[in-house]
Amino acid sequence: MSPLSSPAAVHAADLVVFGGTGDLSMRKLIPALYHSDRDGRLAPETRIIAMSRGGLTDADFRGKVDADVRDQVPADDPAVWQRFLGRLHHVSVDVGGSDRSGWSALSRLLAGHEQRDRVFYLASPPMTFGPFCRELEAAGLVTPHSRVVLEKPLGRDLPSAQRINDEVGAIFDERQIFRIDHYLGKETVQNLLVLRFANAFLEPIWNSLWIDHVQITVAETVGTPGRRGYYDQAGALRDMVQNHLLQLLTLTAMEPPARNDREAIRDEKVKVLQALRPIQEASEVDRFTVRGQYVAEGAMAGYLDEPGSTPPTRDSERVETFTAIRAEIKNWRWAGVPFYLRTGKRMPRRVSEIVVQFKDVPHSIYPGGSPNRLVLRLQPEEGIQLHIMAKEPGAGETTLKPVPLSLSFGETFTTRVPEAYERLLSDVLGGNPTLFMRRDEVEAAWRWIDPILAAWEASPELPEPYPAGSPGPAGAHELLGRSGRAWHEEA
Ligand code: BG6
Repeated sequence: MSPLSSPAAVHAADLVVFGGTGDLSMRKLIPALYHSDRDGRLAPETRIIAMSRGGLTDADFRGKVDADVRDQVPADDPAVWQRFLGRLHHVSVDVGGSDRSGWSALSRLLAGHEQRDRVFYLASPPMTFGPFCRELEAAGLVTPHSRVVLEKPLGRDLPSAQRINDEVGAIFDERQIFRIDHYLGKETVQNLLVLRFANAFLEPIWNSLWIDHVQITVAETVGTPGRRGYYDQAGALRDMVQNHLLQLLTLTAMEPPARNDREAIRDEKVKVLQALRPIQEASEVDRFTVRGQYVAEGAMAGYLDEPGSTPPTRDSERVETFTAIRAEIKNWRWAGVPFYLRTGKRMPRRVSEIVVQFKDVPHSIYPGGSPNRLVLRLQPEEGIQLHIMAKEPGAGETTLKPVPLSLSFGETFTTRVPEAYERLLSDVLGGNPTLFMRRDEVEAAWRWIDPILAAWEASPELPEPYPAGSPGPAGAHELLGRSGRAWHEEA
C-alpha cells in the first residue's frame, strides 16, 4: 500500500450534497463521482442526493446532469452513464425558511437506510454549516455512520472559524468531520510525501544546513470575473494562503511521521503551523508581506472593472488579488530558512510549484556555478526537476551549465491522473480523514493569518497595483531581492 492510500471504499452510501446544483457540484463533484462509478468505486446501492432551492424533480436533475456534465467526462459507455444517472436524486429545500417539506422529503428518502454510510457534503456558504447541521439533527438524520464534509472557506478569521467548528462540533464528533482543502487531493501534493518519506537520499539534506530557502508559488492566469461578491470578502490571503499554500508549506516542512496514519500525519502538520513565527507588528507586516491588486492592461480588465460582477465598493479597493509573504519556521530543522509564499490572479502563466533552493557549494573551484534547486511542479505538467550543474561539452575552458534532471509524471505514468475531488470523495466514502484538515490545524492556520489581516485592515495604504498579466507588484521582487534572492520564473 502506498503512503496515504485509502481503504477500498465500496460500502453502500447515501451522499447528500447541499448546494447540489451549484457550480462546485456540477463542475467538480458530479464528474468526480462519475469517475468513481466508472472505476467501480461506488457500491451498486450508493445514491447521490442533491439538495437545492431549485424545485427540481429527480428527472429534472438527471436531465440537467445529462446536459451539463456529460461533455465534461468520458461518458463512452452509455450503460455506465445511465447507471450513474440512476443514482441521482434531488430534494428541494427552503433554506432558512418556514417550509419544512424539504427536510421531510429528505427524511423519507433516507428512512430505512440507517446502516449505510451517510455523508452530508456542505458545498454551501459557511454561514449555513451550523444551521444545516442543526436541521439534520432535528430531523433525526445524523446516525453513527454519518460524516459531514465542509467546503472552504472555513470562516474569515479565527473567531468565525472557531464558531463554525463549535456549531458543527455540537452535532458531529471530530472523527466525523471532513474539512476539505482540495489541494491535498492533488496527485503531486501526495507525491511530495512519497518523495520525502519513501526515498532515503533527501532526508539528510532536508534542513537548514543544506537548504537556503523555499518558494511556494500558486499563480493563476484567471481573474475574478463574476466573483466580486465572494472575493471582496476574501482576498488572496484568505482564499489561497490560509489553506492551500499553508498546506503545501506543512507538507514540505513537517517531520517524518512515525506511521502512515491519519493522526500521525496531521500531528506533524499542525506542529509546523504552530512553529510559524508570528508576523504581527505593523512594521513586520510591512517588511515581510506584500499585497497587490491587478489593474487593466491591454484587453484585460482590472479587478475593479471585471465584467459580470457586482459594482465595486470601498472593500473592493482594499482587496488583494496577489500576496507574497516571507514566513519562518522556528524549529531546529528550519531555523533561518525563509519560506517565501506567493499567489496571485492574472499572472502571466498558471503554475503551482514548490522550489527548494539549496545552498551553494562551500568552496567553488569553477567560475559561474549556481546552487542546486529542486522544483516540484504541482500543475500544469506535473513533475519533479533537480537542477544540477554540468559541464558544457567543449575542449576549451570548463564552462558550467545548470541542467535539469527531469521526471515528468505524464510521461512516466500512463494511468489517468484523477482529479483532486475524486481522491477526496473516495476517502470520505471510505472514512479516511488523513487528507482532511483537523480542527486544530485550521485554527492554527488562522492564528498565524489573523495578525496579518488586522495589520492590512488598519493600514491606510491600498494594495500595490500590478498590470494584469504581469508577474505581480514590484514589492514581491524586493521581498526576495533584499537578501539577494529572486523568484524562480522558469518556463
Ligand atoms: C480555490 C479558490 O480554492 O482554488 C480559487 O477559491 C482558486 O480562487 C482555486 O482559483 C485554485 O484551484 P486550482 O485547483 O485550480 O489550483
